Amino acid sequence: MCGIVGAVAQRDIAEILLEGLRRLEYRGYDSAGLAVIDAQGKMGRLRRLGKVQMLADALDQHPLHGGTGIAHTRWATHGEPSEANAHPHVSDYIAVVHNGIIENHEPLRELLIERGYRFDSETDTEVIAHLVHWEQLQGGTLLEVVQRVIPQLRGAYGTVVMDSRDPSVLVAARSGSPLVIGRGVGENFIASDQLALLPVTRRFLFLEEGDVAEVKRRSVSVYDKNGHAVEREEIESKVQYDAGDKGVYRHYMQKEIYEQPLAIKNTLEGRFSHGEVNLSELGEKADDILSRVQHIQIIACGTSYNSGMVARYWFESLAGMPCDVEIASEFRYRKSAVRPGSLIITLSQSGETADTLAALRLSKELGYLGSLAVCNVAGSSLVRESDLALMTKAGTEIGVASTKAFTTQLTVLLMLVARMGRLKGVAPQVEHDIVHALQALPARIEQMLSLDKTIEALAEGFSDKHHALFLGRGDQYPIAMEGALKLKEISYIHAEAYAAGELKHGPLALIDADMPVIVIAPNNELLEKLKSNIEEVRARGGLLYVFADQNAGFTDSDGMKIIQLPHVEEIVAPIFYTVPLQLLSYYVALIKGTDVDQPRNLAKSVTVE
Ligand code: M6R
Repeated sequence: MCGIVGAVAQRDIAEILLEGLRRLEYRGYDSAGLAVIDAQGKMGRLRRLGKVQMLADALDQHPLHGGTGIAHTRWATHGEPSEANAHPHVSDYIAVVHNGIIENHEPLRELLIERGYRFDSETDTEVIAHLVHWEQLQGGTLLEVVQRVIPQLRGAYGTVVMDSRDPSVLVAARSGSPLVIGRGVGENFIASDQLALLPVTRRFLFLEEGDVAEVKRRSVSVYDKNGHAVEREEIESKVQYDAGDKGVYRHYMQKEIYEQPLAIKNTLEGRFSHGEVNLSELGEKADDILSRVQHIQIIACGTSYNSGMVARYWFESLAGMPCDVEIASEFRYRKSAVRPGSLIITLSQSGETADTLAALRLSKELGYLGSLAVCNVAGSSLVRESDLALMTKAGTEIGVASTKAFTTQLTVLLMLVARMGRLKGVAPQVEHDIVHALQALPARIEQMLSLDKTIEALAEGFSDKHHALFLGRGDQYPIAMEGALKLKEISYIHAEAYAAGELKHGPLALIDADMPVIVIAPNNELLEKLKSNIEEVRARGGLLYVFADQNAGFTDSDGMKIIQLPHVEEIVAPIFYTVPLQLLSYYVALIKGTDVDQPRNLAKSVTVE
């Protein structure tokens, strides 16, 4: 989704801005632009449709010099992807970049047209530029002007404003979309994600909701939503950014699939003691909250929602804990009834997903017992605003299609299930089985990854297909959902997932030789039921790809291709069976020639509704 970078320095900053944008590319965008104030106080602006490289080429042709500037990658919400709609937007000497949505942009646009302003784009952002310009005419510093503009805007956004008549200052405002200030020596920076600034600093201040910051070369002043000066804690970032290096891999997604054994090992590290799960990082208040939990409400979007669906099976079967799961965008807009002693668990790779954050904020008004975030980004809004947090240690995930974030989320959730089970008096053997299965898992996945070539060969069968159906039962049903999501998002093949028992209630009508049916078949107590479902498909001439436990008793036959997988402990089978489905999607996308790491229309971090 949109990305922001800004700088106030003495040196030329165009290259710093550009590098920042490159580091935000993975989030998804359709155009990019930057504006820089030169030594004569003249603002130069460049914008290009397409990749950041197009902007870099333009900058080579038309270099921009100066120490103060702002830059942006845009993911269209209002107005098509085009150069005219790309940021920064200007109003005379004012320039603005903006993430998020200004919901009341239409009445503001009308008001500004009445005031004599002309609009050059279809964006909601341009109203900010003209509003700032209008308020500037009424007097005051840029900070005061922005503070007067903010109450006029409705919506969730992050914005940075620049005035070419005063290159000493940038003003940033956060209202629903994250912004971070990077502290340098004699220079300061602003970005929507710390990753953008890691080449220039590791010292960060995270703006909070409603904050407005005045950023100068030697000072950063932050004001809260009531206009009071506040101190925001400076942290030293430990984030590792290795996005520049795909190593031996062709795509980040492929690299991230292969990183899963290590990501899971890192996620497990330091979290066991004496054969039990140790989540002491939750702090002292955790036991008080967790021991009072009678119900769990999981909230998430996309892949994170699918991991919540798996967790529901685990919480209920392994910890005896009632659990519901809901998509955040549904939860936030319906009137829900809160169960007694209910704990909200939010799941998110980025910790900045707008719907998930909104659902968390809503839950605080509804009387939940507390909130726990499972997240991959330390310092993200979700982590900071939750009572408790457990971090996945997946490392930076660059591919838009989530892979290692999903499997490490499941890893953390299973540890939490063990912890909750102990608090609820579940037999210790259950926790021991969980610990044993988790410890064995990285090696099992390594073994599975050696089947890469077999799965690559299968992908050929999908090259001319337009639809696919994924089937699973029990805790593998959400893995079927995740398999279908991966296939559709990176190969653009329409894919659906069904609980296999639902086949005869409708989807069986779709079965013919053009509809590949992917089945997840671990060797568990549902295997015989699943075999009956497989027969239902075979009898109708369906084309089956069965990812099966090597001991499940399947053999290849007409219309049925068996992918024999090594045996894995049943508890962790959902995590394990995810990996071959990720590989299948990856290889199908390669054959289709789609943009694997940045699929069309998608963004890595969905910070708008
Ligand atoms: O950062 P989050 O986990 O909150 O993101 C939620 C979804 O946007 C995300 O999982 C999305 O579905 C992925 N592209 C799926 O691969």
